[in-house]
Amino acid sequence: MKHRHLLGLKDYPAEDIKSIIDTAFTFKEVLERPIKKVPSLNGKTIVNLFFENSTRTRISFELAQKRLSADTVNFSASTSSLKKGETFKDTAQNLEAMKIDAVVMRHPTPGAPLHLTKYIDAIIINAGDGTHEHPTQAILDMTSLHEKFGYLKGLKVAIIGDISHSRVALSNIYGLKTMGAEITLCGPATLIPPFVEDLGVNVNYNVDEVIEWADALNVLRIQRERMGGGLLPSIREYRNLFGITRERLSQHNKELVIMHPGPMNRGVEIDSSVADSDQAIILNQVLNGVASRMAILYLLLGGKSEGGKD
Ligand code: CP
Repeated sequence: MKHRHLLGLKDYPAEDIKSIIDTAFTFKEVLERPIKKVPSLNGKTIVNLFFENSTRTRISFELAQKRLSADTVNFSASTSSLKKGETFKDTAQNLEAMKIDAVVMRHPTPGAPLHLTKYIDAIIINAGDGTHEHPTQAILDMTSLHEKFGYLKGLKVAIIGDISHSRVALSNIYGLKTMGAEITLCGPATLIPPFVEDLGVNVNYNVDEVIEWADALNVLRIQRERMGGGLLPSIREYRNLFGITRERLSQHNKELVIMHPGPMNRGVEIDSSVADSDQAIILNQVLNGVASRMAILYLLLGGKSEGGKD
């Protein structure tokens, strides 16, 4: 791997993304076995440092670490000595003093994982930093798309919803562009950043045209907790104009793969009749999340081979 840490997918090499995806497919086979465990990271210690809520990413990383036989420690900011006024730097350096090999960190501040690399020598993996990047989500999304279609180059992927507040969108844009996919962003003008076309993507505010164009829709959550007021007239209007509903999809006579990184606002950006349908690969994304994070940990921590032979 060219980079020691995984902080984001901006300028991340295509060959390293490909290696992660290929390795994820190998580990997915491990996850299908009765005993879903290999000794690859035996003796390695990984801290999951979460300063923000998470269901999928935290559990997925913890499972990936356990499946690779690493020792794992979970740190939750809300129950730590940060609440007594200890600084981020002191917290990080105390963890480092306990001889850890890697930190998986989620933090509400963009750039926090990069900041952490200045304080400790452990390998840092970004599990989502504010509205900046969520690289492991984008890698599991690419793994899922590759598994479904067999290729990424030339694939037409639409990312629909709250682009401005989405770290998933930015990491998917960087990763998919690097792998040669075509991307169209769709959502209300108030939730699409100005000049985003400079990243080499298309913008189309008409969701029906985007559905006609796309091979896959990655539907994003409306992040009400990150918005100030006034960005949307109402949730009902958002659903009417941009919601991925069965009625809307039935007007288009085509096969389309539906993705969502979770957590979903059912009845807002996506309806249950779509999210729970056969064309949705949302739960397969979750499974691929474990396999992809196993691959990332394995490749960054220099583990032994999947069979434990070397
Ligand atoms: N997709 C995602 O990051 O979900 P969580 O916030 O539950 O980790």
